[in-house]
This record gives sequence, C-alpha cells and structure tokens, in this order.
Amino acid sequence: MRTDNYPLASNPAEIKRPGIQAESLAEETAIMLGHIGVKAGDACLDLGCGAGGITDLLAARVGPGGRVIGMDVDEFSLTAARTWAEGLALDNVDFVCGSIFDNDLPFSTVAPFRPDHEIYKKVAPFVMANSTKVGTLDMLLNAGVFHNEMTKQSLGRMMPVLGSSANTSLTGSKYRLEDIDQPVLDAGDILVDGGLSKYHNDEGKSSTIIDFESFKTIRIGVCYDKLCEIFLKFKIDLLANGMA
Ligand SMILES: C[S@@+](CC[C@H](N)C(=O)[O-])C[C@H]1O[C@@H](n2cnc3c(N)ncnc32)[C@H](O)[C@@H]1O
Repeated sequence: MRTDNYPLASNPAEIKRPGIQAESLAEETAIMLGHIGVKAGDACLDLGCGAGGITDLLAARVGPGGRVIGMDVDEFSLTAARTWAEGLALDNVDFVCGSIFDNDLPFSTVAPFRPDHEIYKKVAPFVMANSTKVGTLDMLLNAGVFHNEMTKQSLGRMMPVLGSSANTSLTGSKYRLEDIDQPVLDAGDILVDGGLSKYHNDEGKSSTIIDFESFKTIRIGVCYDKLCEIFLKFKIDLLANGMA
C-alpha cells in the first residue's frame, strides 16, 4: 500500500531500476502470465504499473484485440510510462493515475472462472452447479472488514464461501440482523450482529453487479452513480453499455 512513507522513491533512478529488473525477469514474467491465463483479446489492469515494468509483456500477450490499463498512484512514474509506451508504439495500452485505495466501494463482478482451480476442489458438485451459471460466477468485492476477513480465511483454507444474501426469495434486502426472515435466522449456526449496514437505503437496493466481460450492468445497486464515474476513468461507460 502506498503511504507517505512508501519505501520506493519517485525519481529518475527509481524509474530506471524496475525497468532493468522487468527486462531481466521477462522470461519468468511470461511464465507467470501463462499461469494466470492471460490470453489474446483479454482486458488487463496492471495495478501499480510504475514506469511500465511488465505492461509491454501484457500488451503483447493480449494483442491488438485486447487492452491493458496501467494504473499507478505516482504521476511521475506514469509520465515515464506514457513516453515509454509511445516509444514502443503500444496502442492497446492506456494509463490512469489513482490509488487502488481511493474509493473503497463494494460491488459484485460476474466473470468467467477456472473450475479446475485448486480453490474449487473441496466444493461439492451440487453446490458448484447451483452457484455458477454458463461458466461464470458472481463475486462480491470489498464489502467491509468482516467480509475481508472471510475472504482472507477462505483463501488461506482454499475453501470458497458460496452463499446468498440473508433473505428468503423476493422479500428484499435486509440491512439489520433483526430484520432477517426467521427461516433464514433458524438456518444459521452462528449469527453475527454487525449493526445497521453502512449501505442501508430506503429503495431496498443491494450491491451493484457488473458483467466483467461485456461491462453491462446486471443490477443497479448501491453506489451505482459513483461506480459509473470511476469506470469512466478507465474508459468504460456503464450507462452507455446498458443492462445485461
Ligand atoms: C515495485 S513498483 C512495480 C512497478 C511495475 N509493476 C514493475 O513490475 O516494474 C510498485 C508500484 O506500485 C505503485 N503503488 C504503490 N501503492 C499504490 C497504490 N495504493 N495504488 C496504486 N499504485 C500504487 C508505486 O507507485 C510503484 O510504482
């Protein structure tokens, strides 16, 4: 996390160092990108791209039909990155200045996943079949400290937490433990009362869901207007793309 005491300097020498490092590690980086599964036509976000680093390798991998966005909090590094990308004629690359901690908003992504990934090995086929659709799954991101801790433990144990909202079908979102329908409460072994949800609202909105292949909106939920603004920074116009 970049803070005021971030250890890497923002100066010409520091701009050169990761470049040299990236060049010497290009072979290993290619293997890593292969493992991740980056392929032609993909859209990639290179968070903390610095002055370029591996952005060129990503750009070559996704090819002319793909897109890479390099994002960094340091404008000095990004100026160097833009000049570097122009020199290499990387026309499938854009750079955005910002910190990954700028907005801190929750939302859900629907995107393809790798069913062969180790994390799904312990999940019963029935649960997998009911938690996924046409090779995609919905993943809630950044939904607060409790959710973040669950995510950390889930990764540590290689066991995903698959589930639904705490409501019976078509009875609407619940923002407090005491409002949850009795059958759902009765089904729980442990009830955690975190108080009134930070995102409670009178319209009964739940999380916003975005399809990360088409960038169409699947559900307009909380923080939608702000999310539209942020996506525009990355040249993704959610309003123009419409509903999935
Ligand atoms: C070690 S450099 C890596 C550069 C490049 N990815 C590479 O492979 O050579 C880490 C970069 O992350 C950026 N960074 C650190 N904290 C950040 C944050 N919160 N949001 C965005 N960028 C951040 C720094 O400015 C720095 O350029």
